[in-house]
Amino acid sequence: MPPISRNFATITLASLMLTGAFSAIPAQAKSAQRGDTQVTVDASRWEAADPAMDRFITDLMSKMTLEEKIGQMSLLTSDWDSTGPTMREGYQDDIRKGRIGSIFNAFSANYTRELQRMAVEETRLKIPLLFGYDVIHGHRTIFPISLGESASWDLKAIEKAARISATEASAEGIHWTFSPMVDISRDPRWGRVSEGAGEDVYLGSRIAEARVRGYQGDDLGRVDTVLATAKHFAAYGAAQAGRDYHTVDISERTLRDVYLPPFKAAADAGAATFMTAFNEYDGVPASGSRYLLTDVLRHKWGFKGFVVTDYTSINEMVAHGYSRNLKEAGEQAINAGVDMDLQGAVFMENLAQSVAEGKVDMQRVDAAVKTILEMKYRLGLFEDPYRYSDEAREKATVYRADFLEAARDVARKSMVLLKNEGNALPLAANARSIAVIGPLADSKEDMIGSWAAAGDRKTRPVTLLEGMKARAPKGTTVGYAKGASYDFADADKNDGFAEALALAEKSDVIIAAMGEHWNMTGEAASRTSLDLPGNQQALLEALEKTGKPVILVLLSGRPNTIEWADQHIDAILHAWYPGTMGGHAIADVLFGDYNPSGKLPMTFPRNVGQVPIHYDMKNTGRPINPNDPNAKYVSRYLNTPNSPLYPFGYGLSYTSFGYSPVTLDKPRIAPGETLTASVTVTNKGPRDGEEVVQLYVRDLVGSVTRPVKELKGFQKIHLKKGESRTVRFQLSDADLAFTRADMSWGSEPGAFKLWVGPSSAAGVEAEFELTE
Ligand code: BGC
Repeated sequence: MPPISRNFATITLASLMLTGAFSAIPAQAKSAQRGDTQVTVDASRWEAADPAMDRFITDLMSKMTLEEKIGQMSLLTSDWDSTGPTMREGYQDDIRKGRIGSIFNAFSANYTRELQRMAVEETRLKIPLLFGYDVIHGHRTIFPISLGESASWDLKAIEKAARISATEASAEGIHWTFSPMVDISRDPRWGRVSEGAGEDVYLGSRIAEARVRGYQGDDLGRVDTVLATAKHFAAYGAAQAGRDYHTVDISERTLRDVYLPPFKAAADAGAATFMTAFNEYDGVPASGSRYLLTDVLRHKWGFKGFVVTDYTSINEMVAHGYSRNLKEAGEQAINAGVDMDLQGAVFMENLAQSVAEGKVDMQRVDAAVKTILEMKYRLGLFEDPYRYSDEAREKATVYRADFLEAARDVARKSMVLLKNEGNALPLAANARSIAVIGPLADSKEDMIGSWAAAGDRKTRPVTLLEGMKARAPKGTTVGYAKGASYDFADADKNDGFAEALALAEKSDVIIAAMGEHWNMTGEAASRTSLDLPGNQQALLEALEKTGKPVILVLLSGRPNTIEWADQHIDAILHAWYPGTMGGHAIADVLFGDYNPSGKLPMTFPRNVGQVPIHYDMKNTGRPINPNDPNAKYVSRYLNTPNSPLYPFGYGLSYTSFGYSPVTLDKPRIAPGETLTASVTVTNKGPRDGEEVVQLYVRDLVGSVTRPVKELKGFQKIHLKKGESRTVRFQLSDADLAFTRADMSWGSEPGAFKLWVGPSSAAGVEAEFELTE
């Protein structure tokens, strides 16, 4: 099979120049009461003691030379694909010499078998290779980008997507995915917001657990499970100014309260590996941070898996100005707690000497090697190194019809209806001619977004146009004109406008498929403008002038600034990059076969000047008075309201939901007691639908200031037309904990506000007290 390119530039190395987060975690099954949903967090069975494994590994390690041990600590890319600067040739020779223990960017039963054969037949100790890969939102069958999936707020669907991804990937020889990315992201300029679960700590933590469970199942010994990786540890999402790889400078409190909890949740759910981040924290590059990798992850959280670096991030410690040379960088990394070097070849080239010089303890090397060999053992690779490389299974598994159907289902669940003036959607039965216009209307490559590593961009993805044509009732015409371009360089052009406008004029309704090229989000894809790139905005305005109803289907991997569209366009649907079955899923929503139920996992700013903007900000000493919003000397802008265009948690439906007043079973609770908040939600509109009922609280006074709102629970419920349901959430002091003034983790007595509602900006309100 030919190399697969993900359009990453190949550059040379020379050009690179505690929440509960802090309580120690017993590594066994736990359960926690969240809202009224009993969430069981199972640390996977891999953590169980296994004396036979211990004997096997002790014996094996007693035979290993230092070079062979260092080989196990080295991971290199194959030449199939590149996800960063390519810097080392000849990986096959390295395999044969036992110089590498793991490979990434190689898959298929055949190819992994071939490489595995080199390891188990040609090396002295016959230690099998571990194959890693970026299986981020699907392997062959591509699901919506992770941020889109997160907009479903449907933990079962998200877990299922991860399960299917693992099933497909493992059938193609992959043992280990570099996912989930659990970085909290609050700056839409940062391209990598598309890879995670958005801005919120609670939602992000629940999604982290769901994804780990999906990938790893409940037994790593099963041949359809893969190791998960919680990445990028830690605080990568706080890159200054949203510029990728940029400096992170946040307080210890923010680290603990915001950035660490999803990692802690992933560790508790049994994530087998952690990947370091490219950024520094408190002046120390994450790959050299003993604080993060050892004090927090191993000691406080009790993590027993292994830590891999991000791509050449040990090498980059030199450019950071933290290490004088690669050898020193390697010493700092392993001594900080890194177990495996991804693509940097720093351990491979320098570690033996560092050990000889006494700069690195042999015990530290042994500890790293042991955790890596344990994972290989738990995956069953010592029993049968080829068990994941099975052609028959591969054939029977990839693109299974039920996987494609699941991808379609998750895609429509992920879509967020942002505006629907005059019920412009679903499309009326009397719309006999539909104009589908825009650079994303018939673009297969864009449907699957970035980090769809093994995803087919050329033939499989169903475009919006194809989906519309397949679904349109007999007698309805679906016309198409590309009309505009999303290329930055085409901003001043208008060559496609005439054709698009002519089509629009003779159609009953216009679907404008606009947004970003798939490579404008993801790694190394930061933007200082969040507007529609190219000449799309100009075409959208021209389309609006025709007076025909216009539906904007936004395809992108981030919140865009679409205030003009919000003011002028009839309906707006955010479809993210919806994956292989995307076009069908969009048609399902536009024609009303599926009633949209997604809610935003990130705040949509009105303009870039508001960024960073997220719902759980602080009140400040001079908040706006809603009755006098233009007063001077309060915390506001002169030219833009403080409020976002669309708040976190927001999303419309084709039906409408009413909320009764909220009732509490008691006005106050003591530590250890549980408060129950109940609300009756009624489907008041014309059709069946789903609602994400959200619970927020505010701690009014703390030993340190507290956010104006924090999500503490949610439930996605299905209500038939006219149906009512009472939704109950439970809260205890544990849910109200944070990093207090003395840096201890816990709640504080006092008064709290509570809201239950359809978004972070609406809801029915109550108050309660937490007593001493
Ligand atoms: C990314 C990681 C990814 C790795 C391997 C890096 O550039 O930051 O998220 O897992 O490459 O492809």
